[in-house]
Amino acid sequence: MNNIEALKWRYATKKFDENRILSEDKIEILKHAFNLTATSYGLQPIKMVIVHNKTLQSKLVEYSMNQQQVGSASHVLVLCIEREIDEDFIENYFKYVHKIRATPNEILSPFKDFLIDDFKNKHIDEITSWATNQAFLAMGTLLTVSATEAIDACPMEGFEPKKYDEILGLEKLNLKSVLVLPVGFRAKDDMFSEFKKVRRPISDTIIEIN
Ligand SMILES: Cc1cc2nc3c(=O)[nH]c(=O)nc-3n(C[C@H](O)[C@H](O)[C@H](O)COP(=O)(O)O)c2cc1C
Repeated sequence: MNNIEALKWRYATKKFDENRILSEDKIEILKHAFNLTATSYGLQPIKMVIVHNKTLQSKLVEYSMNQQQVGSASHVLVLCIEREIDEDFIENYFKYVHKIRATPNEILSPFKDFLIDDFKNKHIDEITSWATNQAFLAMGTLLTVSATEAIDACPMEGFEPKKYDEILGLEKLNLKSVLVLPVGFRAKDDMFSEFKKVRRPISDTIIEIN
C-alpha cells in the first residue's frame, strides 16, 4: 500500500478480531515508531505502556466509556506523559546527548541552561499541556505507521486517565496516561470498516499561497 491508500484503508476500529494477535515483529515496529517520533527540544517527555493481557483489558473497558475495542484488541497502547519534567530530567537528557554524540559540554551548556530556566518559569499546567502535545504527535506517528503496516487501530481520548493510572500502576512510574490506542486486526463484522470516510473537501481544508 502506498501512504495515501494506507490512510484510506485505516479507520477508527470499533471491533477487533479477538482471535488474532499481532506478531512480535509488528509490535517491535510500533515501539520504534513511538520512540522515533520527533518531540519538542528532543526531550521525549513521554512513555508508552503496552498492555497485552485480556483480563486487564476487560477491566479497562469499564473505564473507557464501555468502548469494547479496548477489550477485543490484540494489544492496548497507553500513551503517557512524565509527571515531573524538572531540572534532573533536562540534565539527564543532555548527559545522554553528550554520551551519544560526544558533543562537548561547553556547546551543550547554554541551551541546557536556557531550557532548565525556561521550564522552572513555566506553570505545571503549561508543562503538562506541552508534554501532552508530544503524546498526540506520537499518536499521529503510530496511526500512520499502523496504517502502512496494515495494523488496525483506534485512537482514543474517551477513557478515565485516573482509573487507568491506578489499574496500571502508572503513578509509581511517575507517569500519567493521556491517550489510548488499541491495535490489532479488524473484526470481519465491524460495520465501521464499511463506512465511507467523512472528510471535508481538500479545497476546503488546504490554502495554497504562491
Ligand atoms: C484524539 C482522538 C481521540 C479519539 N477518541 C476516540 C474514542 O474515544 N473512541 C472512538 O471510537 N474513536 C475516537 N477517535 C476516533 C475519531 O472519532 C475518528 O478518527 C474520526 O471520526 C475519523 O474517522 P476515521 O479515523 O475512522 O477516519 C478519536 C480520534 C482522535 C484523533
